Amino acid sequence: MKILITAGPTREPIDPVRFLSNRSSGRMGYALARAFVKQEHQVLLISGPTSLDVPDHVDYLPVESAQDMHDAVAHALPRVDIAIFCAAVADYTPVEVAPQKIKKSDDTITLTLKKTTDILGSARSVHGFTGFLVGFAAETEHLEAHARAKLIAKHCDMIIANDVSQSGIGFDSHDNEVLIVEAEENTKLPRDSKEHLAHHLATIILQRHASKRGTE
Ligand code: PMT
Repeated sequence: MKILITAGPTREPIDPVRFLSNRSSGRMGYALARAFVKQEHQVLLISGPTSLDVPDHVDYLPVESAQDMHDAVAHALPRVDIAIFCAAVADYTPVEVAPQKIKKSDDTITLTLKKTTDILGSARSVHGFTGFLVGFAAETEHLEAHARAKLIAKHCDMIIANDVSQSGIGFDSHDNEVLIVEAEENTKLPRDSKEHLAHHLATIILQRHASKRGTE
Protein backbone atom coordinates (compact mmCIF):
# COMPACT_ATOMS: atom_id res chain seq x y z
CA MET A 1 0.00 0.00 0.00
CA LYS A 2 1.20 3.53 -0.77
CA ILE A 3 0.59 6.01 2.03
CA LEU A 4 1.09 9.78 2.04
CA ILE A 5 1.54 11.44 5.44
CA THR A 6 1.91 15.17 6.09
CA ALA A 7 3.61 16.21 9.32
CA GLY A 8 5.06 19.10 11.25
CA PRO A 9 4.36 22.82 11.05
CA THR A 10 4.54 25.13 8.06
CA ARG A 11 6.49 28.39 8.02
CA GLU A 12 4.92 31.42 6.41
CA PRO A 13 7.59 34.00 5.54
CA ILE A 14 7.28 37.63 6.67
CA ASP A 15 10.71 38.81 5.49
CA PRO A 16 14.02 37.01 4.75
CA VAL A 17 14.59 36.17 8.44
CA ARG A 18 11.11 35.96 10.02
CA PHE A 19 8.12 33.66 9.68
CA LEU A 20 4.78 32.70 11.23
CA SER A 21 4.57 29.11 12.48
CA ASN A 22 3.17 26.94 15.30
CA ARG A 23 4.22 24.44 17.98
CA SER A 24 3.91 21.22 15.97
CA SER A 25 7.01 19.06 16.55
CA GLY A 26 6.19 16.54 13.82
CA ARG A 27 6.27 13.64 16.34
CA MET A 28 2.72 12.37 15.67
CA GLY A 29 3.20 12.29 11.89
CA TYR A 30 6.68 10.77 12.07
CA ALA A 31 5.41 8.07 14.47
CA LEU A 32 2.67 7.23 11.97
CA ALA A 33 5.24 7.03 9.18
CA ARG A 34 7.31 4.55 11.24
CA ALA A 35 4.20 2.51 12.12
CA PHE A 36 3.22 2.00 8.46
CA VAL A 37 6.83 1.21 7.44
CA LYS A 38 6.93 -1.42 10.21
CA GLN A 39 3.88 -3.03 8.62
CA GLU A 40 5.80 -3.03 5.31
CA HIS A 41 3.93 -0.28 3.54
CA GLN A 42 5.46 2.39 1.31
CA VAL A 43 5.37 5.83 2.94
CA LEU A 44 5.82 9.29 1.43
CA LEU A 45 6.38 11.72 4.31
CA ILE A 46 5.82 15.37 3.34
CA SER A 47 7.09 17.38 6.27
CA GLY A 48 7.41 20.94 7.38
CA PRO A 49 10.57 21.91 9.30
CA THR A 50 11.21 19.77 12.42
CA SER A 51 14.22 18.78 14.49
CA LEU A 52 13.43 15.07 14.18
CA ASP A 53 15.48 12.41 12.41
CA VAL A 54 13.92 11.29 9.15
CA PRO A 55 12.41 7.81 9.75
CA ASP A 56 14.20 4.94 7.99
CA HIS A 57 12.78 3.59 4.75
CA VAL A 58 10.39 6.47 3.96
CA ASP A 59 10.41 8.70 0.90
CA TYR A 60 10.96 12.09 2.49
CA LEU A 61 9.94 15.41 1.00
CA PRO A 62 10.78 18.48 3.10
CA VAL A 63 8.68 21.61 2.55
CA GLU A 64 8.41 25.02 4.21
CA SER A 65 5.21 26.92 3.53
CA ALA A 66 1.55 25.88 3.26
CA GLN A 67 1.74 26.54 -0.48
CA ASP A 68 4.83 24.27 -0.81
CA MET A 69 3.01 21.54 1.13
CA HIS A 70 -0.09 21.94 -1.04
CA ASP A 71 1.93 21.63 -4.26
CA ALA A 72 3.81 18.54 -3.02
CA VAL A 73 0.57 16.86 -1.88
CA ALA A 74 -1.28 17.68 -5.13
CA HIS A 75 1.56 16.11 -7.12
CA ALA A 76 1.66 12.93 -5.00
CA LEU A 77 -2.07 12.27 -4.42
CA PRO A 78 -2.79 10.45 -7.71
CA ARG A 79 -0.21 7.78 -6.79
CA VAL A 80 -1.27 6.90 -3.22
CA ASP A 81 -3.95 4.64 -1.69
CA ILE A 82 -4.23 6.36 1.69
CA ALA A 83 -3.56 10.02 2.55
CA ILE A 84 -3.19 11.14 6.18
CA PHE A 85 -2.99 14.87 6.95
CA CYS A 86 -1.30 15.26 10.32
CA ALA A 87 0.53 18.52 9.57
CA ALA A 88 -0.37 21.72 11.41
CA VAL A 89 -0.73 23.84 8.28
CA ALA A 90 -0.96 27.61 8.72
CA ASP A 91 -4.50 28.82 8.00
CA TYR A 92 -3.20 32.30 7.11
CA THR A 93 -0.07 33.63 5.42
CA PRO A 94 1.22 37.19 4.93
CA VAL A 95 -0.17 38.90 1.83
CA GLU A 96 3.26 40.37 1.14
CA VAL A 97 6.75 39.08 1.93
CA ALA A 98 9.14 41.98 2.53
CA PRO A 99 12.18 41.60 0.24
CA GLN A 100 14.50 43.02 2.95
CA LYS A 101 14.55 42.53 6.73
CA ILE A 102 11.83 44.77 8.20
CA LYS A 103 13.50 47.57 10.19
CA LYS A 104 12.39 48.49 13.68
CA SER A 105 10.79 51.96 13.45
CA ASP A 106 7.13 52.49 14.49
CA ASP A 107 5.83 51.28 17.88
CA THR A 108 3.34 48.98 16.17
CA ILE A 109 3.21 47.40 12.75
CA THR A 110 0.35 45.64 11.02
CA LEU A 111 0.65 42.39 9.09
CA THR A 112 -2.12 41.65 6.60
CA LEU A 113 -2.81 37.93 6.22
CA LYS A 114 -4.70 35.93 3.62
CA LYS A 115 -6.15 32.42 3.83
CA THR A 116 -3.93 29.53 2.69
CA THR A 117 -5.32 26.76 0.51
CA ASP A 118 -7.04 24.06 2.58
CA ILE A 119 -4.92 21.08 1.49
CA LEU A 120 -7.13 18.45 3.13
CA GLY A 121 -10.29 20.20 1.99
CA SER A 122 -9.13 20.26 -1.63
CA ALA A 123 -7.97 16.61 -1.78
CA ARG A 124 -11.31 15.27 -3.02
CA SER A 125 -13.06 18.40 -4.31
CA VAL A 126 -10.17 19.85 -6.36
CA HIS A 127 -7.68 17.00 -6.86
CA GLY A 128 -10.24 14.20 -7.22
CA PHE A 129 -8.57 11.89 -4.68
CA THR A 130 -10.49 8.62 -4.49
CA GLY A 131 -8.41 6.78 -1.89
CA PHE A 132 -8.88 6.59 1.89
CA LEU A 133 -8.73 10.12 3.30
CA VAL A 134 -7.77 10.81 6.92
CA GLY A 135 -7.64 14.28 8.47
CA PHE A 136 -6.64 15.39 11.93
CA ALA A 137 -8.53 17.95 14.02
CA ALA A 138 -6.80 20.03 16.67
CA GLU A 139 -9.58 21.36 18.89
CA THR A 140 -9.84 23.23 22.18
CA GLU A 141 -13.60 22.65 22.70
CA HIS A 142 -16.49 20.53 21.38
CA LEU A 143 -14.02 17.87 20.17
CA GLU A 144 -16.51 15.42 18.64
CA ALA A 145 -18.82 18.04 17.10
CA HIS A 146 -16.01 20.01 15.47
CA ALA A 147 -14.28 16.87 14.24
CA ARG A 148 -17.54 15.54 12.75
CA ALA A 149 -18.10 18.87 10.99
CA LYS A 150 -14.60 18.53 9.43
CA LEU A 151 -15.31 14.90 8.46
CA ILE A 152 -18.32 16.03 6.45
CA ALA A 153 -17.03 19.35 5.07
CA LYS A 154 -13.72 17.88 3.88
CA HIS A 155 -15.20 14.58 2.58
CA CYS A 156 -12.94 12.49 4.82
CA ASP A 157 -13.29 8.81 5.70
CA MET A 158 -11.89 9.48 9.16
CA ILE A 159 -10.90 12.37 11.40
CA ILE A 160 -8.43 11.84 14.25
CA ALA A 161 -9.26 14.50 16.81
CA ASN A 162 -7.08 15.66 19.68
CA ASP A 163 -7.96 18.11 22.43
CA VAL A 164 -5.01 20.50 22.26
CA SER A 165 -6.21 22.50 25.30
CA GLN A 166 -5.06 19.65 27.60
CA SER A 167 -1.52 19.81 28.87
CA GLY A 168 0.79 16.90 28.06
CA ILE A 169 -0.92 15.89 24.82
CA GLY A 170 -1.23 17.32 21.32
CA PHE A 171 1.31 19.88 20.10
CA ASP A 172 4.99 19.32 20.97
CA SER A 173 4.42 16.55 23.53
CA HIS A 174 5.44 12.88 23.56
CA ASP A 175 1.92 11.64 24.37
CA ASN A 176 -1.45 12.03 22.78
CA GLU A 177 -5.06 10.95 23.31
CA VAL A 178 -7.38 10.84 20.33
CA LEU A 179 -10.99 10.41 19.32
CA ILE A 180 -11.36 8.68 15.95
CA VAL A 181 -14.48 10.07 14.28
CA GLU A 182 -16.04 8.17 11.36
CA ALA A 183 -19.45 8.34 9.69
CA GLU A 184 -21.00 5.56 11.79
CA GLU A 185 -18.95 5.52 14.98
CA ASN A 186 -16.45 7.14 17.33
CA THR A 187 -13.49 5.31 18.89
CA LYS A 188 -11.52 6.74 21.80
CA LEU A 189 -7.84 5.82 22.18
CA PRO A 190 -6.75 6.80 25.70
CA ARG A 191 -3.59 8.70 26.55
CA ASP A 192 -0.45 6.88 25.42
CA SER A 193 2.85 7.66 23.73
CA LYS A 194 2.50 8.93 20.15
CA GLU A 195 4.62 5.93 19.11
CA HIS A 196 2.13 3.40 20.59
CA LEU A 197 -0.92 5.33 19.42
CA ALA A 198 0.50 5.46 15.89
CA HIS A 199 0.63 1.65 15.75
CA HIS A 200 -3.03 1.38 16.83
CA LEU A 201 -4.03 4.10 14.38
CA ALA A 202 -2.15 2.45 11.50
CA THR A 203 -3.89 -0.88 12.19
CA ILE A 204 -7.34 0.75 12.36
CA ILE A 205 -6.76 2.83 9.20
CA LEU A 206 -5.63 -0.26 7.24
CA GLN A 207 -8.69 -2.25 8.46
CA ARG A 208 -11.11 0.52 7.51
CA HIS A 209 -9.44 1.00 4.13
CA ALA A 210 -9.74 -2.75 3.43
CA SER A 211 -13.41 -2.86 4.42
CA LYS A 212 -14.20 0.25 2.35
CA ARG A 213 -12.58 -1.37 -0.69
CA GLY A 214 -14.52 -4.57 0.02
CA THR A 215 -17.82 -2.72 -0.13
CA GLU A 216 -17.05 -0.71 -3.29
O1 PMT B 1 3.44 17.55 15.54
P1 PMT B 1 3.14 17.18 16.99
O2 PMT B 1 3.87 18.07 17.97
O3 PMT B 1 3.37 15.70 17.26
O4 PMT B 1 1.60 17.47 17.28
C1 PMT B 1 0.63 16.69 16.63
C2 PMT B 1 -0.55 17.58 16.18
C3 PMT B 1 -1.24 18.18 17.40
C4 PMT B 1 -0.04 18.71 15.25
C5 PMT B 1 -1.52 16.63 15.37
O5 PMT B 1 -1.98 15.61 16.20
C6 PMT B 1 -2.70 17.40 14.79
O6 PMT B 1 -3.71 17.64 15.44
N1 PMT B 1 -2.55 17.82 13.50
C7 PMT B 1 -3.54 18.71 12.84
C8 PMT B 1 -3.30 20.13 13.27
C9 PMT B 1 -4.26 21.09 12.60
O7 PMT B 1 -3.81 21.98 11.89
O8 PMT B 1 -5.54 20.86 12.78
P2 PMT B 1 -6.78 21.73 12.19
O9 PMT B 1 -7.96 21.27 12.97
O10 PMT B 1 -6.42 23.19 12.20
O11 PMT B 1 -6.87 21.26 10.70
C10 PMT B 1 -7.74 20.22 10.27
C11 PMT B 1 -7.10 19.40 9.17
O12 PMT B 1 -6.93 20.22 7.99
C12 PMT B 1 -5.74 18.81 9.49
O13 PMT B 1 -5.68 17.51 8.95
C13 PMT B 1 -4.75 19.74 8.76
O14 PMT B 1 -3.57 19.04 8.35
C14 PMT B 1 -5.59 20.16 7.55
N2 PMT B 1 -5.27 21.47 6.97
C15 PMT B 1 -5.44 22.62 7.70
C16 PMT B 1 -5.21 23.85 7.11
C17 PMT B 1 -4.80 23.89 5.75
N3 PMT B 1 -4.55 25.05 5.14
N4 PMT B 1 -4.66 22.75 5.05
C18 PMT B 1 -4.88 21.55 5.65
O15 PMT B 1 -4.74 20.51 5.01
